[in-house]
Amino acid sequence: MHDLMSEKKNIKFPEDALVLVHRIMARYPPGRQKSAILPVLHLAQAEFDGWLSSPVMDYVASLLGIKPIEVYEVASFYSMFNLKPVGKCVIEVCRTGPCWLMGAEDIVTYLEKKLGIKTGETTPDGMFTLKTVECLASCGTAPMMQVGEKYHENLTCEKLDEILGEYRKNTEDHISHWAKDKIKSKEA
Ligand code: FES
Repeated sequence: MHDLMSEKKNIKFPEDALVLVHRIMARYPPGRQKSAILPVLHLAQAEFDGWLSSPVMDYVASLLGIKPIEVYEVASFYSMFNLKPVGKCVIEVCRTGPCWLMGAEDIVTYLEKKLGIKTGETTPDGMFTLKTVECLASCGTAPMMQVGEKYHENLTCEKLDEILGEYRKNTEDHISHWAKDKIKSKEA
């Protein structure tokens, strides 16, 4: 209980992010701040280690002046929000019709075997999290997957080997979700 309280107290956007949150909220008429929830959650996920804990969602609710449950509902509806800690790279494989017909299932099976985890899990070294998601609007280049901001298309097992190798070499801190700078320049 005490830990949760102190964790809550420590959750605060840095000043530049807070300025951005208020700028996003100002786009909507008074009383309609809930409409800012998606960009604010993206920003929260980018700022707080790639996932949205309950205290982070409570903090977002307090900023928007809405009930925490309203934030939980939205965050749990969209697959791009992570509700538990994730690895440095979150791999999201599309499993909807066209991708499925083009072999998405084989792609998932191959990744599970290669990474030694099941869908929904993170590798013990904290490098990769594997998820399956619905259509990412790139059906013409199926099967495909998204990692952070990047789409990887026309996937084959050979291509996956290359892609995983590249991510392993990447030393950036956060490539699992939208980069903070990108969000800030987009929303500024
Ligand atoms: S079905 Fe996979 S991107 Fe549309």
